[in-house]
Amino acid sequence: QNCILIGAPVDSGKRRNGCLMGPDAYRTAGLIDALADLGHHVEDLGNQAPCPFVPDQPDAKLHALNETIGWTKSLAEIAETAMARGLPIFLGGDHALAMGSVTGVANYAASQGRPQFVLWLDAHSDFHTPVTTDSGNLHGTPVNYFTGGTDFEGFPTVQNPVPYHQICMMGLRSVDTAERTAMQHTEIQRYDMRDIDENGISAPLNRFLEAVNAANGMLHVSWDVDFLDPAAAPAVGTTVPGGATVREAHLVGEILHDSGLVTSMDLVELNPFLDERGRTAHLMVDLCASTLGRRVFDRVTRSFS
Ligand code: ARG
Ligand code: MN
Ligand code: MN
Ligand code: MN
Repeated sequence: QNCILIGAPVDSGKRRNGCLMGPDAYRTAGLIDALADLGHHVEDLGNQAPCPFVPDQPDAKLHALNETIGWTKSLAEIAETAMARGLPIFLGGDHALAMGSVTGVANYAASQGRPQFVLWLDAHSDFHTPVTTDSGNLHGTPVNYFTGGTDFEGFPTVQNPVPYHQICMMGLRSVDTAERTAMQHTEIQRYDMRDIDENGISAPLNRFLEAVNAANGMLHVSWDVDFLDPAAAPAVGTTVPGGATVREAHLVGEILHDSGLVTSMDLVELNPFLDERGRTAHLMVDLCASTLGRRVFDRVTRSFS
């Protein structure tokens, strides 16, 4: 495949700084070689910039709103054009970048007459709006935005909202009351850590992938570092105990690769400033490699298409 690396040093989605170093940490951890070793063609577009924006008030209730709007505009455009040439991989940057990446790939999918699906691997549901958020951190809002949520004043209008039933969230263990209430009447498929503890991660994932395949859908996978347990992945500002194990995460990547359905990906929320000798960056590179075909042995696998 043609893997298109898009550096998205977005640091505007929350107050704690450091995610802007994420893209370079992934490169330092060997992402390009890891993908090339799997036989992929790798193209690195370098680190991108937001569209011009009016500087934000440092003490505003919503943190860095204008900057986040600037990023949403630039990344949506890059996402849409990259889709025509290969498989874009957004190197974050915090999760606010998904406002751009997902709306951009969804525009491309619509242009192909295909439905856009999203797999959201995260401790959090990120379903706030600029009105419901308590923290004022916009990295807690992308899912509401790209599903067509109102209340996103100043942001580009979402041309092709992702329908709720085409979204699957896994790894949830920190959902705020307003998010839970807002999701209650949606068909977003949500698997919290208890579901994964009780039933494993592969059955629900395979069920979701069957639906993507049946609809001839495109699939965007958004990997938030905090999907993982903090013991395995400490380099994130929003750790929540009790997350996915290293093996559960690799299994997700391996099943995704076997499905042949992944068309774009985000790696988000890595804060290299909080890392321990690069181990979180290395783990995320390894998970990306699993998602793109790294395996111990070849085996006969299910095939979706
Ligand atoms: N729900 C919390 C908030 O709105 C946490 C969001 C964390 N999001 C993330 N992408 N890490 O502040
Ligand atoms: Mn900031
Ligand atoms: Mn997130
Ligand atoms: Mn999260």
